[in-house]
Amino acid sequence: MTPRTSSQVADRSRVSIIAIDGPASSGKSTIGKELARILDFLYFDSGVMYRAVTCRALSLGLDVSDEKSITDLAERLRIEVRPATVPDGRDNDLLADGADITWKIRAPEVDAAVSTVAAFPGVRQALNRHLRSIGSRGRIVMVGRDIGTVVMPEADVKIYLMASPEERALRRFRERGGRGEPADYAEILASIRKRDALDSSRETAPLRLAPDAHFINSDGITIPEVVDQVLSLVRAEQRQA
Ligand code: CDP
Repeated sequence: MTPRTSSQVADRSRVSIIAIDGPASSGKSTIGKELARILDFLYFDSGVMYRAVTCRALSLGLDVSDEKSITDLAERLRIEVRPATVPDGRDNDLLADGADITWKIRAPEVDAAVSTVAAFPGVRQALNRHLRSIGSRGRIVMVGRDIGTVVMPEADVKIYLMASPEERALRRFRERGGRGEPADYAEILASIRKRDALDSSRETAPLRLAPDAHFINSDGITIPEVVDQVLSLVRAEQRQA
């Protein structure tokens, strides 16, 4: 990514929390990481928490539709995100009860089960406690489904990032291929559509546009263009502050 001049970088003093929500593979993580890099903010992907609980539940052989056992697991699971110790393309190490699950959380089995797990109110309550304590430090870009609506409604800038299901499936297909994993476009598209439906229709904290969020459709726009759009919004917010 091209380095930016100081005039392109927003004044860092006023905007402290940036929330980016949107459906699967809408570009939240790519955009979020780049923004955090430019602003020198922490980047945090809340989805890894839901994926960690799901991944652990599957490896323990739990029934992911059993609300009680999954909620108990979410309450007691020790999830740690720490700087990467393995040079295999990861951004961080992700540990659950001490086990390295950094790549396991991206498996298709986790994709297929995570929205069921994320719909349980007790799971959300347990994870939101962690997310709020991470977010309250400020100077953060947090991405997810309900960051601007539920986790940090006080966020200074809220973005809702969208792209068509076909475009998003293509991105995920390429991501998997890039990691040398088998990938089937039609299966990925079906899984994304299913997750969209579950995430948008659940009762607790459904995926939806916060009234004060900025909607960005990233179909056919490059990553630097989206990043520039968000940086303009950050600057506009600072002028108003
Ligand atoms: O990377 P991708 O966009 O596919 O998904 P993710 O951000 O890793 O999130 C995985 C799943 O966790 C989502 O499909 C949601 O069911 C759930 N999730 C959530 O409910 N709330 C969040 N703040 C983040 C993720």
